[in-house]
Amino acid sequence: MAARSVRDLEELVRGHRIVVCAGSGGVGKTTTAATIALWGALQGRNAIVLTIDPARRLADSLGVGPIGNTPVQVPDSVLATGASGAHGTLAAMMLDQKGSWDELVERHVPNAEARQRILENRFYQQLSQSFAGSQEYMAVEQLGELDASGRYDLIVVDTPPTQHALDFLEAPERLLAFLDRKIVKWFVRPSFSAGWSTLRTMNRTVGFLLHKIEDATGVTALADVTDFFSAMTGLFEDFEPRVQRVTQLLRDPATAFVLVAGPDEQVLDQADYLAAQMSARGMPLKGVVMNRVHRHVAMNDGDSSLEAITALVAAQLERLRPESPAATRATSAGKGGRRAASAAAASGAPSLAARLAQNFVAYQARARGDELRLEIFRQGLPRSVPLALVPNLESDIHDVAGLLQLHPFLFARAAS
Ligand SMILES: Nc1ncnc2c1ncn2[C@@H]1O[C@H](COP(=O)(O)OP(=O)(O)OP(=O)(O)O)[C@@H](O)[C@H]1O
Ligand SMILES: [Mg+2]
Repeated sequence: MAARSVRDLEELVRGHRIVVCAGSGGVGKTTTAATIALWGALQGRNAIVLTIDPARRLADSLGVGPIGNTPVQVPDSVLATGASGAHGTLAAMMLDQKGSWDELVERHVPNAEARQRILENRFYQQLSQSFAGSQEYMAVEQLGELDASGRYDLIVVDTPPTQHALDFLEAPERLLAFLDRKIVKWFVRPSFSAGWSTLRTMNRTVGFLLHKIEDATGVTALADVTDFFSAMTGLFEDFEPRVQRVTQLLRDPATAFVLVAGPDEQVLDQADYLAAQMSARGMPLKGVVMNRVHRHVAMNDGDSSLEAITALVAAQLERLRPESPAATRATSAGKGGRRAASAAAASGAPSLAARLAQNFVAYQARARGDELRLEIFRQGLPRSVPLALVPNLESDIHDVAGLLQLHPFLFARAAS
């Protein structure tokens, strides 16, 4: 199904069943994931977007509430706003990490009493809420479930807002290492009913493991830990093969990682690093979305000085004043602009036109900087990885109409 390399993002989404949007915090991962899933649905696929902590208004418009954890079908009437003919379906699901852990327990611990014991266990509560990488792990676990359900032919995964985007890739193995079966076995041994401090001195390895658990969870009550592992034995039996399955899924040829980044220097540095780390882990990057790029406005050389721009802006402002003679009489921008600019200069204060012009010049400088940095970044990418440029839109994107605005930039063949 999946091509080894793709021409553009359109081909990438068409050729993959799972698309994972990764990148550093705040760059537009959730927005990109949602818009890709929406496009897939409009192309006739049964798509789902697995979102993580979407902005409230976007969540509302997709119909996913704070309860989360179950797929919600985006109503056909909402989907139809962007459809010109027949279309597929779109579901959205918000990952709520605590809820997912509880669900995992529900699924793997059939005995109601044992289940209750786990859910009330302090160690479990700590592990599910604060273990480093636990949210990332649940995202991967959830992906495995959605894939196994066979209900979707396009699963778009948003990744958690984290400084360390690599956590997502490493989470399954990290959790597996932490919950090493040997450790679990030790804890369920009756001899472990001894006290925490006795154990710590018993031997170095045990002391080290206890340290690891304390560090990772902050829990220092051995009874909670032992009880947790005893109650969870059923779950851990199946843990390793399951983690291996989901890890495999991330490396499947039908899975594509899309890096979402922005033109800021720091974000590009992180993007470079993430791309290198992904390929080192056998999860190579297949596409890049460069989001919120400032567009440079092409101008004639003669028009680009601050003075000339101030005159142009002043002329436009003059035209907008209904009582202005310029609105009815001025035929030349230069004439009206110079008149308004010199009137402002005579009053001594920087005119509105001068301030707007300064702002525009600063924007142009920023756009040129974006262009330059992007060029350097693009040169570092393998030729087989397509890059789509998305402009910084005038307002936030919080509904289906907003998501649709991004499609021409992501999926029109000429756009990238
Ligand atoms: N191209 C764009 N133009 C204008 N606003 C945008 C664009 N892309 C995203 N946004 C806005 O930027 C904000 C951050 O986007 P988003 O929530 O998708 O980022 P994120 O990478 O998921 O963030 P986090 O790491 O916090 O989860 C949102 O308010 C979104 O509407
Ligand atoms: Mg997000």
